Amino acid sequence: MGCADGLIRRADQTVGSTVPPAVGRVRSVVVQRLSRAPSTLNHEKSRPRRAATPSTESTAVITLRPVEATDLDEFFSHQLDPSANHMAAFGAKNPSDRGVFDNHWQDILNDRRITVRTILSDGHVVGSILAYHDGEAPEISYWIDRSRWGQGITTAAVGQFLNEVTERPIRARAVADNASSIRILERWGFQQVGETQGFAPARGAVVRELILELP
Ligand SMILES: CC(C)(COP(=O)(O)OP(=O)(O)OC[C@H]1O[C@@H](n2cnc3c(N)ncnc32)[C@H](O)[C@@H]1OP(=O)(O)O)[C@@H](O)C(=O)NCCC(=O)NCCS
Repeated sequence: MGCADGLIRRADQTVGSTVPPAVGRVRSVVVQRLSRAPSTLNHEKSRPRRAATPSTESTAVITLRPVEATDLDEFFSHQLDPSANHMAAFGAKNPSDRGVFDNHWQDILNDRRITVRTILSDGHVVGSILAYHDGEAPEISYWIDRSRWGQGITTAAVGQFLNEVTERPIRARAVADNASSIRILERWGFQQVGETQGFAPARGAVVRELILELP
């Protein structure tokens, strides 16, 4: 599971880093307070204002519910997808290692700082979304089945999740070339407030990651 998962991983790594310290030091957080354009969104309404360009509206019934043990098989298959891992960049070093995956999800499910939900499309498990609270602004992240991309599912799920996790400001991270995720966040009124660089296991390289915030 994507960025906050990466964040959770990195939090773990910070503790017992598997990333060579040198790389760690590359991770300079440059918080540039960009002048905030007026928010394009109205938080009250769960549906974002119509974007100028035609947008992807999910025609399916999108719902969120607490994670059930049987969902993990689906989540495991989702994070095996190479293009999804590349897109998220901070996913697992070895996505096919089920043992690591299961331990990681037990950490997520047992961590009171994390609000996590399964995303359903017409009742089918299609992904997950979480908010990770580490004392500063909570951060959200999400990951859905590759075969369901481009159907407006995550846009709808983020809208519902923002009605459930009402703490503000709330943040999200996306690798600078993850246009899809950045588009979803901007549609819900998130704006870039900074950026960071970090070693991304799925890319084997240091990447630029944007920090976006919904005030
Ligand atoms: C990122 C991800 C969650 C997007 O999910 P999705 O359900 O396909 O997203 P949606 O269909 O709701 O919306 C995608 C938006 O991005 C836009 N988009 C997609 N590809 C794009 C591109 N290359 N350039 C610009 N916009 C793009 C779509 O047009 C849509 O915007 P619109 O509704 O205004 O038209 C999904 O690709 C995923 O799970 N990726 C792997 C994990 C990951 O990267 N998680 C996020 C990191 S935190």
